[in-house]
Amino acid sequence: MQTDPEKYVVEAEHFAVGYGERTILHDISVKIRRGSVTCICGGSGCGKSTFLRATLGLVPHKGGEARVLGENINQLEGDKRSQFLSRVGFMYQNGGLINSLTILENLKIPLKAHTNLSEKVIEELVYHKLAQVQLTHAVNLLPGELSGGMLKRAGFARAIILEPELVLSDEPSAGLDPVTAADLDDLMIRLKNELGISLIVVTHDLDSIKRIADRIVMLEKGYVKFDGPLNDALKSQEPLVKNFFARAPSEGHAGISSLWNLLKG
Ligand SMILES: Nc1ncnc2c1ncn2[C@@H]1O[C@H](COP(=O)(O)OP(=O)(O)O)[C@@H](O)[C@H]1O
Ligand SMILES: [Mg+2]
Repeated sequence: MQTDPEKYVVEAEHFAVGYGERTILHDISVKIRRGSVTCICGGSGCGKSTFLRATLGLVPHKGGEARVLGENINQLEGDKRSQFLSRVGFMYQNGGLINSLTILENLKIPLKAHTNLSEKVIEELVYHKLAQVQLTHAVNLLPGELSGGMLKRAGFARAIILEPELVLSDEPSAGLDPVTAADLDDLMIRLKNELGISLIVVTHDLDSIKRIADRIVMLEKGYVKFDGPLNDALKSQEPLVKNFFARAPSEGHAGISSLWNLLKG
């Protein structure tokens, strides 16, 4: 497989993964560009979260090949794997924070695990990151004491604490009101530009996609159904993509689909 890690953060060719006997992603061939925001879209259960986990090498490999930041993720072990993981930030839906530790203590964890910096420097770095996400006032609070939006910002700070090249985010706006979701989008884009990060975001929030996406990868049942710039996705005549952006029911639901067309007039 030819690779160009200067240009692409993820390069997959006929990549397949699954759990146990079951294959979830059957044949994924995509190149995800460095410096861009790529939104992964598709129906519930089509394998979006699995795709994110697979880019960290966390889902058993079934075939093909995937390079992430130039590394063959299915052959990474020990120190090389740990070093690779420090180059990728993961933003979990619930922030990925430990509930019994303050925000400060939570954010120190990756720095303690991956660097030899002194306690004082680590604390300064955490304060700096919290300032970037406008959360210095929450430094001594527990995750349970934060609002939904604050929790997402803390989770984002945690994801970028090691200054990764790539950040993966699984439905960042889930559970947020539209205004808070838009604020989070703006923050993610601002920091992405300032820090030169590439972002891969799983989302089905159309407003958010239109605000943040450079490119769209649409999955269906473990296959790539669309891969291209947002503007091409918005104009696509591929039924799956068209229905997604029109919020129309899928073709599979013929009865509902015709009712929908009737209602739309
Ligand atoms: N840890 C797991 N073990 C077994 N099956 C799983 C696991 N995680 C997800 N799946 C299955 O894989 C499929 C895709 O799931 P997922 O990637 O979470 O979909 P999406 O994020 O697109 O909704 C689903 O059928 C789900 O039940
Ligand atoms: Mg999911």
